[in-house]
Amino acid sequence: MTYDLASTSWGQEELDAIARVVRTGQFTMGEEVRRFEQAFAARFGVEHAVMMNSGSSANLVGVAALFHVDRRPLQRGDEVIVPAISWATTFHPLQQYGLKLRFVDVELDTLNMDVSKLEQALTPRTRMVMAVSILGNPAALDVVRSFCDQHDLFFFEDNCESMGASLGGRLCGTFGDLGTFSTFYSHHISTMEGGLLVTNQAELANLARAIRNHGWARDCAPAKPQAEARTIQDDFFEAYRFIVPGYNVRPLELCGAIGIEQLKKLDGMLETRRANAALFRSLFAGDERFILQREHGRSSWFSFTIILNPARRIDRGRVMTAMRAGGIGFRMITGGSFLRHEAAKFFDYEVAGPLANADTAHDHGFFVGNHPRDLTAEIRHLHAVLDEAARP
Ligand SMILES: Cc1ncc(COP(=O)(O)O)c(C=O)c1O
Repeated sequence: MTYDLASTSWGQEELDAIARVVRTGQFTMGEEVRRFEQAFAARFGVEHAVMMNSGSSANLVGVAALFHVDRRPLQRGDEVIVPAISWATTFHPLQQYGLKLRFVDVELDTLNMDVSKLEQALTPRTRMVMAVSILGNPAALDVVRSFCDQHDLFFFEDNCESMGASLGGRLCGTFGDLGTFSTFYSHHISTMEGGLLVTNQAELANLARAIRNHGWARDCAPAKPQAEARTIQDDFFEAYRFIVPGYNVRPLELCGAIGIEQLKKLDGMLETRRANAALFRSLFAGDERFILQREHGRSSWFSFTIILNPARRIDRGRVMTAMRAGGIGFRMITGGSFLRHEAAKFFDYEVAGPLANADTAHDHGFFVGNHPRDLTAEIRHLHAVLDEAARP
């Protein structure tokens, strides 16, 4: 048996959508992307959704946009509080925009930022918290929200791993001033490559639309950019008007069309992922050799994490060999502790207290895939392999 990290969630609908777009001959961002953005915003109960070519681009554009808002924009040298574990492109835009990172440890069970350390990480230069809900599990977003309100900080929610998760009935990705999502293969919905930035603030949405598209005013809704545009009478100049430094991270029409079909299936796929998670937890719960991710709020179960309990001195190498032999795919938990990577040497950062839990997850943990289909056989196989390999 093989138990892969990910599999396709596409059916005939996605293939038909691709064929339909190909027949139109319109490939770059247009009506399909607009329709997907509208459907996504409606599904997540937000005013604006802006699609890009990846979740990483959504993070990049989001950070860039915060440098151009009217009120207290970010400036180089400002500090951002971040969790020690996340994907590299949670952090890279912060470095690329000259921000200083203050790393906070994660909780060993939820794997999310330990919010009891937020006060300790705060300095007079702190301007933002970047919170991440790891692998489907909601971070303490309510606590981060109040902390940011109390200290007048931006709240950037990287929700690229947790589409459909919720906390206290509110969807992850909607707690922040802006939230980002990824629709890469293996994520909760897949558009090949893709990502979205969501926000309730028209100013941020407009900036994001301009920055994803060369810094061009063309596709901004009426707010600041178009108010200025009204003073420009000449269509010749209006056609090519650049209002902020930008990129080209536009999505393709194909991705928008696929996203519309995938979004219709999201609820059903979440249900299946949660059913798989219930089996995983029932098999592994109570076994002190394995530290599982503790659900906080309602997880969307991107995957299943296991940390081999360091107190039991289980040889991770032996466990990995057994999993490879058993055809089971596995990876480091969201890239592990970011400061353990070479890229960290390019960053301006400080750590706010020890990062002991992030190191434990890095050294003793891994995740295996969850899929939007019944994994009963795969999860039972995983349990049998681990039960044997982790024997003293
Ligand atoms: C937390 C987090 N942020 C950002 C990204 C980047 O998303 P993408 O792969 O769509 O660029 C990922 C990717 O999985 C992620 O896990």
